[in-house]
Amino acid sequence: MLLAPRVLLALVLGLASTAAAFAPPLSPHVRHETRRALPRGWAPVCRAERDSVLPLRIGLAQSNLDALEEYLLDVSHPESPNYGNHWTPAKVAQTFRPSAEAVDTVRAWLADGGVSADRVRLNPSGGWLTANVTVEEAEGLLATEYFVYEHAESGHKQVGCESAYHLPEHVAKHVEIVTPTLHFDAKVKKRSGVKSKLGTPGSGPVTPKTTGKIQTLFNELKNCDEQITPICLRALYDFVYIPLATKKNSIGIVEYTPQAYNPSDLDLFFTNFSSSQVGQRPVMESIDGGTIDVGGGGFDINGESNLDLQYAMSLVGKSQPVTLYQTGDDLEGASFNTLLDALDGSYCLFEGGDDPDQDPSYPDPFGGGYQGPTQCGGITPAHVISTSYSYDEVDLTPAYMQRQCAEYAKLGLMGVTVLYSSGDFGVAANGGLCLDSEGFLDFDGDIFAPSFPGGCPYITSVGATQVNPGAKVTDPESACNQVIFSGGGFSNVFAMPSYQKSAVTNYLTKYPPPFASQGVYNTSGSRAYPDISANGANYAVAVQGEFFLVYGTSASSPVSAAILSAVNDARLAIGKKPIGFINPSIYSSLFKGVFNDITNGSNPGCGTEGFPAQPGWDPVTGLGTPNFPQLLARWLLLP
Ligand SMILES: *[C@@H]1O[C@H](CO)[C@@H](O)[C@H](O)[C@H]1NC(C)=O
Ligand SMILES: *[C@@H]1O[C@H](CO)[C@@H](O)[C@H](O)[C@H]1NC(C)=O
Ligand SMILES: *[C@@H]1O[C@H](CO)[C@@H](O)[C@H](O)[C@H]1NC(C)=O
Ligand SMILES: *[C@@H]1O[C@H](CO)[C@@H](O)[C@H](O)[C@H]1NC(C)=O
Repeated sequence: MLLAPRVLLALVLGLASTAAAFAPPLSPHVRHETRRALPRGWAPVCRAERDSVLPLRIGLAQSNLDALEEYLLDVSHPESPNYGNHWTPAKVAQTFRPSAEAVDTVRAWLADGGVSADRVRLNPSGGWLTANVTVEEAEGLLATEYFVYEHAESGHKQVGCESAYHLPEHVAKHVEIVTPTLHFDAKVKKRSGVKSKLGTPGSGPVTPKTTGKIQTLFNELKNCDEQITPICLRALYDFVYIPLATKKNSIGIVEYTPQAYNPSDLDLFFTNFSSSQVGQRPVMESIDGGTIDVGGGGFDINGESNLDLQYAMSLVGKSQPVTLYQTGDDLEGASFNTLLDALDGSYCLFEGGDDPDQDPSYPDPFGGGYQGPTQCGGITPAHVISTSYSYDEVDLTPAYMQRQCAEYAKLGLMGVTVLYSSGDFGVAANGGLCLDSEGFLDFDGDIFAPSFPGGCPYITSVGATQVNPGAKVTDPESACNQVIFSGGGFSNVFAMPSYQKSAVTNYLTKYPPPFASQGVYNTSGSRAYPDISANGANYAVAVQGEFFLVYGTSASSPVSAAILSAVNDARLAIGKKPIGFINPSIYSSLFKGVFNDITNGSNPGCGTEGFPAQPGWDPVTGLGTPNFPQLLARWLLLP
């Protein structure tokens, strides 16, 4: 993400244009995307020079996107006759490829705006038109004004337009997103000790938390309230399973460089908790220069990856390989789109990334970074993919999120289960910030700030629970309230999907939250999350030769992934398809009672106690924690 500002600035300051004069477009402009507020820390410093050059990129509207949810439910709703009939990547690419009409309409509009056809290129997947245009041309085309913005803390600059940009009505329906416009490299908070460039999902304060080193390591069921180890999780979720179809089955864990696992820590962990796995490593899929060789270590660098892999690998057991999607190089880093490009070639922009303001480009044009081409496709997605990183919705624009969210639905169409941790700050944003009345993230804000992609209806969002202090492993868990609070709430961008309507309505009508009338969360009927939860407190994790006590939905997601992966194994072993997008199933009446319902605790934030956990689904722990034998039984009944 830092890259884009560098590119833009070079272009804006350095290059003059030979562009033709601007001619006005034909139909009236309508507002296409808006930004309610600049991300925290950014301010305009001056107008961008009129004759400087911008690499304009137009993401074309995909065909059949309005039927996306219908297609997805068709293959993932448990009552659908097509349950499990997942699509091939080719069918996905073909179904959603933008129409020739979209390409022609946008080209004609650009030509009318003085950008002749020879300056415009269509990328190989047919999804993007790009052209180098002057600021003046862009301002005319988009009916906006461009400014140079500067970030107060870091001094980074980037070029973008003010609160909105516009498109002629007849063009707007063929366009999803235009860049560079409103999208900001918003995540500039760099953690100490991390060499990361800015803007990667891992460079925000989104990591598991630790209370420090463990003096005495227990590995006893009677100590699960103080220390979670694999045996505690097996006991909590009744998770004992011997895999049968490990050649067909697959599970992937996503990490963003420079966060990386430390091999000797895996062995230390295995020595204590899964001795047959000493020496075992994840199967490395390096995406765009992804490496674990990051020249340093410590909790900030190894904590997340070590946690995810130690628990995912020990829970699936020795015979099931775990794939590691190590994404982005050590210099430029990566975004969620970098991974999605590698999993689905039809998604990517040919220069790399999908929004050059937010996603890094490869080969790194500044040297020092990964010099290979951006990976477009080529990686077969694992059946279950877990990611323990998240953004705040408010930092991204709706079009950017909608485009990425649709991509998760496409993975669901292909039979992939996509899990994301729901965040560690309860109803607040990362770092505990909340929205103020103007829509800014602020320490004084009191409006809840949902996370992304938690609010995307096509992923499964995983919250955190705890074994209560002093409680037995067989006692009911509560919402996590040690060190972290389970992320949850209501999206400000995505509408509520049909599959969760009755569960969410039940919660809001039977247990209206005390602050229901205070306008602190979105009550317009939007996507509610998380969907499920799993323990997120007191994990024993080996980091740099010692054990640390670790907390976070970061743990809940890979643990859930390991359990769901065992369900896939059982289905694959008898010739059935993987479970794919699970939400329509788990909210259905067929799955009633298969999660351990969490009814105690809440997710504080923004000056409130947060949403209380209640019987049934709640925006703290979702439907509850997995009951493996029950889940397995229900899913074996499905075709
Ligand atoms: C825009 O300019 C850059 C830098 O000169 C060049 O690499 C790129 O190919 C140009 N793009 C198009 C679409 O002409
Ligand atoms: C962990 O492993 C070390 C090395 O084998 C051993 O000394 C220690 O007793 C183990 N601790 C537990 C709780 O298993
Ligand atoms: C509430 O969510 C809906 C999407 O369901 C969105 O359109 C609306 O703008 C949101 N309201 C606010 C105040 O953010
Ligand atoms: C409810 O959760 C709190 C922590 O949030 C815990 O102290 C308390 O014991 C729990 N009560 C029950 C009945 O589980």
